[in-house]
Amino acid sequence: MNVIDLRSDTVTKPTDEMRRAMAEAEVGDDVYGEDPSINRLQERAAEILGKEAGLFMASGTMSNLVAALTYCHRGDEIVMGDQAHMFWNESAGASALAGAQIRLIPNGEQGRIDPADLEGAIRPGGNLHFPPTTLVCLENTHNRCSGGVLTPEDTAAIARVAHAAGAKVHLDGARIFNAAVSLEVPADELVKDVDDVSFCLSKALSCPVGSVLCGTREFIDEARKWRKMVGGGMRQAGVLAAAGLVGLDTMIERLADDHANARRLAEGLANIDGLEVDPESIQTNIVIFDVDPTVGSAAEVIAALDREGVKVSSPGPHSIRMVTHRHISGEDADEALVRTSKVVREMK
Ligand SMILES: Cc1ncc(COP(=O)(O)O)c(C=O)c1O
Repeated sequence: MNVIDLRSDTVTKPTDEMRRAMAEAEVGDDVYGEDPSINRLQERAAEILGKEAGLFMASGTMSNLVAALTYCHRGDEIVMGDQAHMFWNESAGASALAGAQIRLIPNGEQGRIDPADLEGAIRPGGNLHFPPTTLVCLENTHNRCSGGVLTPEDTAAIARVAHAAGAKVHLDGARIFNAAVSLEVPADELVKDVDDVSFCLSKALSCPVGSVLCGTREFIDEARKWRKMVGGGMRQAGVLAAAGLVGLDTMIERLADDHANARRLAEGLANIDGLEVDPESIQTNIVIFDVDPTVGSAAEVIAALDREGVKVSSPGPHSIRMVTHRHISGEDADEALVRTSKVVREMK
């Protein structure tokens, strides 16, 4: 039985072209700024996203952490959505290492934040009891909100409120190219109102390792120091950046296939008695659906699916996440549906 791995797009492996590029990559000591492949990747990433400069990072988590370290002093406050990856899944790095308090406001549909909620959460200045609101974090696409997409207008509305209060806006754009492909809008248009953006090479772009943080040259120069402090000065990491360059050139357009397969999965799941999802809400490659308690817990369904060779993950006790990616074909999506339907029928 073939295993259909829908746990995450992070399971994607490098393409043959990436492997060749990695084998042949020109490298140097990146801590001295002398790795030509990394320099090329950083310049290319910044150019695509319309920012002045880029910085290669070991991971999305490191990128988000370094952004927080760069902007915040101890005792500052960061406002983010209550479903943010930075809040749920990054080991409280921004609190533990940047010393910032996290203030949560609701993530609505597609991961949107209501500008009025942000306005209400921003601390008035000039009161020594209050932590200053230094940073607002957005996420596009939104992982825990089923791959929901923020439009340029959504982002601009948040940035207006943040900037009026003197706060910066960091975008966790781990899957920003999924958003761009879904909206058919250039990626730079999606990030033009944020101060910096981080995107991941190691997810849907199929590269083995890495993220790139992009922003003003001044921000990136400062971020470089913090990256060094957290151990992210990686020397001849041009072997990784070389795959990143191939990813940016070859892996973006094909994301539309992942989105179509995710929609196909969601439509099939919606027809399975005991599962609940609105296929119309699926905009990119992440499908989160609810499991009726009469079927069992998410953990029980996941274990049963695993026995049938379908690997999935769970964002909560009654919800399951399926993520499409380069190794999932339309036939795999159909086969996953057949096996899921069988599992749920047998559990009911
Ligand atoms: C939205 C989002 N941000 C950040 C990350 C962290 O990336 P990494 O796993 O490279 O640390 C992830 C990982 O899944 C993510 O989904």
